[in-house]
Parts: sequence; C-alpha cells; structure tokens
Amino acid sequence: MSEERHLIGLLLGTEEDWPTAFETILRRLGPVTGPGGTRHEFGCERITIEPFWLRYRPRYSLVIDRLAYWYYVPREWLKKVALMDRVYLLNSPFTFQAMEKHAAYCAMMRLGLKVPETVLVPYKNPVDNARYAYTAAKYNRPFDLDAIADQIGYPLFMKPYDGGAWRGVSRIGNAAQLHEAYDQSGEMLMHLQKAVDYDVFARSLSIGAETMVMRFQPEQPMHLRYAVDHSFLAPEPGAEVVTIGKLVNAFFRWEFNSCETLVTGTEVYPIDYANACPDVALTSLHYYFPWAIKALLKWSVFALVTGRRPRLDLDTAQYFEIADDAGATYPQKLAAYRELADQYFDTDRYRDFCAQSLPRLDEIVLEWVAGPDFDRLLVDTVRSVYPAHEHDMFIAHLRGLIGMWVSDENRKVAAA
Ligand SMILES: Nc1ncnc2c1ncn2[C@@H]1O[C@H](COP(=O)(O)OP(=O)(O)OP(=O)(O)O)[C@@H](O)[C@H]1O
Ligand SMILES: [Mg+2]
Repeated sequence: MSEERHLIGLLLGTEEDWPTAFETILRRLGPVTGPGGTRHEFGCERITIEPFWLRYRPRYSLVIDRLAYWYYVPREWLKKVALMDRVYLLNSPFTFQAMEKHAAYCAMMRLGLKVPETVLVPYKNPVDNARYAYTAAKYNRPFDLDAIADQIGYPLFMKPYDGGAWRGVSRIGNAAQLHEAYDQSGEMLMHLQKAVDYDVFARSLSIGAETMVMRFQPEQPMHLRYAVDHSFLAPEPGAEVVTIGKLVNAFFRWEFNSCETLVTGTEVYPIDYANACPDVALTSLHYYFPWAIKALLKWSVFALVTGRRPRLDLDTAQYFEIADDAGATYPQKLAAYRELADQYFDTDRYRDFCAQSLPRLDEIVLEWVAGPDFDRLLVDTVRSVYPAHEHDMFIAHLRGLIGMWVSDENRKVAAA
C-alpha cells in the first residue's frame, strides 16, 4: 500500500485551547485511508517566526492561520508559501487581506443580497501625506453629512470600512450623535449604514464545506454571546443564512470565516462577513467548540488526502451571470448561488469522504470531550483567560455547556 505524509502547520497567537484540541484529535485519529487506498499520515506543528529565505521550501502542506491578521512577518510568509510552494491555506492572504468589509459589501450587493444601504464618507481628519493639503483643496468636494444621514434615515451605524472587534462602531440616533461620532472617527475611514431592526442575530461560522449557524447576542459579554438554540430560525431564513455564508466564502475563496446576518421575520440582511481568522475560542464557542475542531480537522484532512488545490483566482463572472438573470426570482438566485458554492467546496465529495475515511471521528471526539483530558484543557483555558475570582464560575459555566454537548452527541452517535 502506498503512503503519504502531510505536515499541518498552525500559526497561532495567544491561544492554547483550539490548537491543543486539534493536535489531540489528529493524534487520536491516526492514519487515514484515502479513497484510492493510499495510507495518509498526519503530523502537526506550531509554526515559529524566524527569518526565511524566499526560495526555501517549507515542510508544511497545509496551514491554519490565526495570527497573520495582526502580525505581518507570518503574513508575508503566507504570501510566499501561497505563491511559491502551493501550500493549502486557511485562509490565503491573497483572498483575504485584499478584502475588507467594504469589498465584501460591494460584492454581495452586486449579487442582489439585502445588504442595508451603506455610504462611504471621506476621512474626517487630513490624511498623513505631504500631498494631501493640495489634493484635498483642489478635489475634495464639501458634503452635507446631515443630508446623507437623513437620506439613509436614523437610526444608523457608523463603522470603519475595514472594521473588526467593534473598533469605532457606534449606533447613531440623531444629528448630534452623528457629528460626535464623525469627529471622533479621526483617521479612520467610515461607512454609514442603515440600522436593521432585527428579531434575531444569526452568526454563522464556516469551515470549508461546513457551516454552523448560531444565535448571537451581541449585547452580552463574550461568554454568553453564542446561545445554544437549535430552532431559532424558521427553515427558510435558516437555509438562506447558510447559503449566504457559503456564497460569500465560495465567491472570495475563503475557507475559514464567520458571517453575521440580521433576521427580521423571513428577511435576511447580511451585515458583516469578512472575518479572517474567526474566533474559535473554547470560552466563546463552548457548546459549538467540538464542532469547530472537528470541522477544521475534517476539512484539512479532506483537502490533503484528495489533493484539493488552492484556488486564488476569483471567478466572478459565473456569479454575476446569476445576479443578472432578469427572469430569476431572489429564491431562485439563492438556489443557483448555493449550487455554485457547493460545487466550489466539493460538498458531496466531502460528505462521502468523511463517511468513508473518517467513520470513527465522531466517537473519538466524543470520548475525548467527555473525558478528563478535555476537562483539564477547559480548566487551564479558564485560568489563562479570566481573573482568579471568576475561575469557579466560568469552569462551572463551561462544564455545564460541554456536558450538554456530550449528552446531545451521545444521542446522535448512538442513533447512528
Ligand atoms: N446595519 C446594522 N444594523 C443593526 N445592527 C448593526 C448594523 N451594523 C452593525 N450592527 C451592530 O454592531 C455590531 C458591530 O458591527 P460590525 O459587526 O459591523 O463590526 P465589527 O467591528 O466587525 O464587530 P465584530 O468584530 O464583533 O464582528 C454588530 O454585531 C451589530 O450588533
Ligand atoms: Mg461583526
């Protein structure tokens, strides 16, 4: 029998939780037999930061990145290995760092999605460039911020065009708040966006061909933001949220991303869907953490065993063709987008692969999560994240939620 070895690299910041989980499950899984009968062995290493020759050959076949969004040495390393070494990346900086909220808004508006009305306004403060004063005096048109806001209608949101982590986000209820927020925006480039008055906030996390939709409560502290609720969306908007997540990711070639949509009745409004290096912390995902680790592992193994090639080029034309089909209704367009996205992620083959080549994974993960090693990880994670007087409370909180996952999963595995 032929054999292949693959080394998976992890680019990490301060986190220990998900990498430990990923490394443990990969080790417990052992070798995987691919569809052609080849035996695949997997190793996993945490990538260190050091000088690198641009012509050197990396040992990794696939890299999961949760660091390059703020640390540019690994980001430039990722560009090198993407361009020169065909390393499979979750995510490629060529697909992600070129994009921000703004580009994603434009693309999804172009596809006909219900992105709330959004306006980009010029910087409040001068740009730090010797040419600015002359250029601005000559070409910047004065504009009436109040008139723009009136046209959008209050309430509205002011937020950076490339935002993240709520930096610079404010909800604006009137003209006074509008001017205060704009004055404070300083050197940040801002959008004004119509506020959606929503019933539920759905945040979906996509990893390769899989998408998990979770009820999100942005007003809560981080550990309570994801609520465990399996039926908070009616089937139709539920399916639409999944389709939007998959569509965004397939369109931009993102493999690991979260997508925020606001749902009012049966209407689904996407508001934020360019989140490279999405949060997969145990303390925020809790009940959904085992799903995320499994999905990361399954997608990585699938990509390596089946020799999936990274695709950096965008194929916008086929999506725009659907968008421009005057005879198609919105649901028909969504169905067509979904088909393209599923083709791109090879969803059927992925499902077959998981069933045939990873038949014991659910049991392996369940056994680990239900056992003492995972509990130790949970305790260590809480100790590293929260102050001492909160340890007991958070340990009990997380144990409760993980316990709930274990009993739900037990039922699922027994039924299978
Ligand atoms: N158009 C909108 N209508 C209603 N609420 C909005 C709108 N835009 C933003 N919000 C609210 O503001 C929050 C932050 O906005 P947004 O997600 O765009 O910023 P962010 O900096 O990316 O935040 P995060 O990193 O938490 O995703 C959202 O979670 C939502 O609660
Ligand atoms: Mg957001």
